[in-house]
Amino acid sequence: MTHWWQDLFDEKYLRMFAEARPPMRTEQEVEALLAVLEQHCDQPADVLDLACGYGRIALPLALAGHQVTGLDLSGYLLNAAKSAAGQAGVSVTWQEGDMRTLPAGWTAQFDAVLNMFSAFGYFDEAADNQQVLAEVARVLRPGGIFILDLAQRDALVHNFRPTDWFEVDDLLVCVSRQFDAITGSSTEYWLWSDEQGERQSLYFRVHLYNATELTSMLQAAGLEPLEYYGNLATPLDENPFEPFNSRLVIVAKKL
Ligand SMILES: C[S@@+](CC[C@H](N)C(=O)[O-])C[C@H]1O[C@@H](n2cnc3c(N)ncnc32)[C@H](O)[C@@H]1O
Repeated sequence: MTHWWQDLFDEKYLRMFAEARPPMRTEQEVEALLAVLEQHCDQPADVLDLACGYGRIALPLALAGHQVTGLDLSGYLLNAAKSAAGQAGVSVTWQEGDMRTLPAGWTAQFDAVLNMFSAFGYFDEAADNQQVLAEVARVLRPGGIFILDLAQRDALVHNFRPTDWFEVDDLLVCVSRQFDAITGSSTEYWLWSDEQGERQSLYFRVHLYNATELTSMLQAAGLEPLEYYGNLATPLDENPFEPFNSRLVIVAKKL
């Protein structure tokens, strides 16, 4: 059986999700991440970008002087990342792999681990999502930090829209959304017609968490939450987390 997360992250993802993180937004996120790294880590830091995609964040952090490793399951996105790194003349260590089982040799190797733009909660089994946090804790040095940036369950429930639409690249995308309050799974189907009039679709199902649940999960993995933000932009203290923020950013420390 193929899972949606083995299927989605190719050229379709690049096209349909690029507008959600345009260059200006990425610049804001990088500026905020650099501030967090400066506050909590010796400089330059050994940083793991977990589920790094096409290197949207890994590359600018490496350009800023950090030693960056990017891990992702998608060979397609990693190839895009490698070619962007080549063009920028920046060195990043790229690793293809699954976030639940990081390389054995990475134990206590990193000052910081990042998981950005909703790259968490992909597995149907709760134990698998918890396993990702256990792996993050294993590869962090004691005192190292984990920065988690994801959609926030309470906001989705508060503003729930079972159907939705928006435009991407002048294409009208119709969305059907379901939320299972028992499992916490949010399922989205996107449908659109491409420029040739061909019907296209994509699908994903993500386990959504609120701050309460994530706090318990992080603590169970030996990661103590230090700071909660509603948005990753500087100055961070102007973006405190509030209950119905659509996003949640947690900075947690490996004990
Ligand atoms: C929404 S994208 C976020 C990418 C990147 N963090 C960013 O901020 O642009 C989610 C990423 O998770 C990766 N991914 C999905 N399942 C994975 C898995 N089991 N292990 C590692 N990476 C995975 C995808 O290939 C994709 O690059």
